Amino acid sequence: MIGLSSSAAKDLGQKPATRAEFFAGSEDIIRQPMAAAPTITETVSISINDVELAVPKGELIVESVKRLGLEIPIFCYHSRMKPVGMCRMCLVEVGFKAPDGTIKKMPKPQAGCTLPASDGMAIYTDSEMIHQDRRSVLELLLINHPLDCPICDRGGECPLQNNTLFYGPSTSRFLELKRHLPKAYPLSKYVTLDLERCIQCGRCVRFTEEISGDSNLAFRFRGAEMQPSSFKLMEYESKFSGNVIEICPVGALTSSQYRFRARPWDLETKPAICTVCSNGCNIWLDYRVGRFVRINGRTNEAVNEEWTCDRGKFGHDWLNSEKRLTTPLIREGDSFKVCSWATAYDAILKAFALGGNQVAGLANGRASNESLYMMQKLFRVGFGSNNIDSRWSRHLPTYQQGFERVLNLNQVQTPIAALEDKATILVFGTSLADDEPIIFLRVRKAWFKNGARVIVAHNGPTDVDSFAHEVLRYRPGTGHIVASVLLNILVESGKVKVPPATRAALRAFTPEKIEDQTGVSESKVRNAAELLGEGPAIITTRTVLDMDQAQDILETLAGLAMTSGGEFNLYGLEANDQGARELGFLPDMLPGDVGLSDISGRGRFEEQLGVVMPNDPGFGTHGIIGACAEKTIQALWLLNADPLTDYFDRTLAENALENVDFLVYQGCIESEAMAFASVVLPMAAPPEQDGTYTNVERRVQRMKQIIPEAGNSKPAWRIFSEVYLRVTNTTPLFSAGEVFQEICRVNPIFGDIASEDFPDQGVLLGSEV
Ligand code: SF4
Ligand code: SF4
Ligand code: FES
Repeated sequence: MIGLSSSAAKDLGQKPATRAEFFAGSEDIIRQPMAAAPTITETVSISINDVELAVPKGELIVESVKRLGLEIPIFCYHSRMKPVGMCRMCLVEVGFKAPDGTIKKMPKPQAGCTLPASDGMAIYTDSEMIHQDRRSVLELLLINHPLDCPICDRGGECPLQNNTLFYGPSTSRFLELKRHLPKAYPLSKYVTLDLERCIQCGRCVRFTEEISGDSNLAFRFRGAEMQPSSFKLMEYESKFSGNVIEICPVGALTSSQYRFRARPWDLETKPAICTVCSNGCNIWLDYRVGRFVRINGRTNEAVNEEWTCDRGKFGHDWLNSEKRLTTPLIREGDSFKVCSWATAYDAILKAFALGGNQVAGLANGRASNESLYMMQKLFRVGFGSNNIDSRWSRHLPTYQQGFERVLNLNQVQTPIAALEDKATILVFGTSLADDEPIIFLRVRKAWFKNGARVIVAHNGPTDVDSFAHEVLRYRPGTGHIVASVLLNILVESGKVKVPPATRAALRAFTPEKIEDQTGVSESKVRNAAELLGEGPAIITTRTVLDMDQAQDILETLAGLAMTSGGEFNLYGLEANDQGARELGFLPDMLPGDVGLSDISGRGRFEEQLGVVMPNDPGFGTHGIIGACAEKTIQALWLLNADPLTDYFDRTLAENALENVDFLVYQGCIESEAMAFASVVLPMAAPPEQDGTYTNVERRVQRMKQIIPEAGNSKPAWRIFSEVYLRVTNTTPLFSAGEVFQEICRVNPIFGDIASEDFPDQGVLLGSEV
């Protein structure tokens, strides 16, 4: 089998072939993906307020008017969802050109959000009739809408307020009692529903049906009584519920977390990047008197469109936590004493003077590119040690085991937006909505809008199952067999070609035996193989690295992608897992040693910086934890990582922290590992510093400092730079921008991004963009 060698073969009593035998000749038989057919857009001539223009045939009038810089007021329409014409706010007058050149108008106004453009159409958005219609619609909507604006969280940023101000009547003729309904009903932990304010636009309901797919909201009752509701008003369960708060055009759905915290005019807003997971969603960060208040989605069509997940949207409150670290601390007996940065650095320099294999650093993938780069520079050049790692999975592939190396594949991470155009997507060994929420939304969109065939293979239920064409639910520990059988079926059917040795090895993985071994039926796996077709996008995540036979799974999936002309994506989980990989933050990999590049990262690094790197390959996470437990590593530096919670063997992690002589805990917030620390260094959080982050699709995105550092904390890159200066007596790098410039200098993959004006949408590594 391609890549899937030793353990899978052993399971079936086969003699595993060597990797070289498996892959010999693979390059010659890669099938090229089919070229996409060019898109031809037919245009039609229409006029808007007597201005002639050409627009794509079928474009909704509500969109066409934007081409002239005009606006039609809307409530229910949302460009990412199907139009439903529920609120009538978008009425326009419509006519058609008669042969004699006169315009014949339709007797009644039409909803601009459901009206597709057709040849000869004449649209009027500014006539007296339309102004009257808009006043009437707003008057109707306001009959039952409470006069809550002064105490409504939406006040100040409410489309109903705005439309009423611009297009509504100045007074109401309604004297009767308004409808009264439950107020501030907690629909879920995050979302509060005020039924009186609802204008029944259906955006929230449609979001759950069309975008998030959880269908957790629906309308119940009819007419004036109609109200959005979860089933029997029970908990609204969704991983994306925060979005309905943002798209609700009134204050009916508000954030339980933000409720009464601020008014929009109190807030300052800056563009930011969410660093809670690896997807790198673009967000607006709202803050008040220097303190974080809330986040909202910011549009980046290439990444998150405009959506966020609940983990990110509601996962930033720790920035204001009382447990934030705000000053350096040094151990004194059983407690910590506040100390200066200089005292903390002195203690660290003394302990790390041992250097080489007696010191080590463990990070997690949430730190910025600049921080990870400076940490490895300090360890490699300053301390003469390659003992650094940022991975916490059970299986840690060496650089040579990376699938790009093994299969001679250029590193591929399918751009997020490109997933939407894939005909077939295989999601393997991951719960996508949990691990990669925004990728989940794109995969769902690929199915919902473009009819992509989606196949999911996992050992438990996932959110993708609800729209997958085939679900392969295998027993834990048998994923590698399922992957091999899939590949075998394709080989046997002649759809893909593999080298003879691989083909021979694959014969052991017959679909007939699969049910006994994995619990997946033969018919299901055959159907999945049939669906796979040509050029599937294969998605898995680093959760697979916690599985048995992880290396086999990775190599087989990568082989499957390679031989069928598809793309293989091993997505990281933390905000900058991909950045750590690109930077070579590995014990056996140096900056520049990425992908197919033959350029020696080491050589380039040494040449560019005039430094000497250590020769010994360092220890990875397992080696470092083990060596600390055995006391062969005497000084350990943790960058925002906590082995007690991040490492799978807690007992070993405890031993390591107890036995290591000197422990630096550098973090934003208190953690369990801190109890073992000799020195604690407070670190600025991502919105408190300048930095770049590389998301799962290899998009480097920049975040400027938005709020001040907590207390006396510093950005991680600065801490490492200051220690580096003390160790090497060289001129330090003074800003995150300077560090980034150096990254671009020593790492060819980053090219000359540093010299460009950093585009808002970020820069996709390895692309022409
Ligand atoms: Fe529309 Fe908001 Fe009512 Fe939902 S709760 S139907 S989004 S007004
Ligand atoms: Fe943040 Fe990830 Fe959620 Fe996007 S998907 S909002 S990056 S946690
Ligand atoms: Fe067109 Fe609601 S926006 S009917």
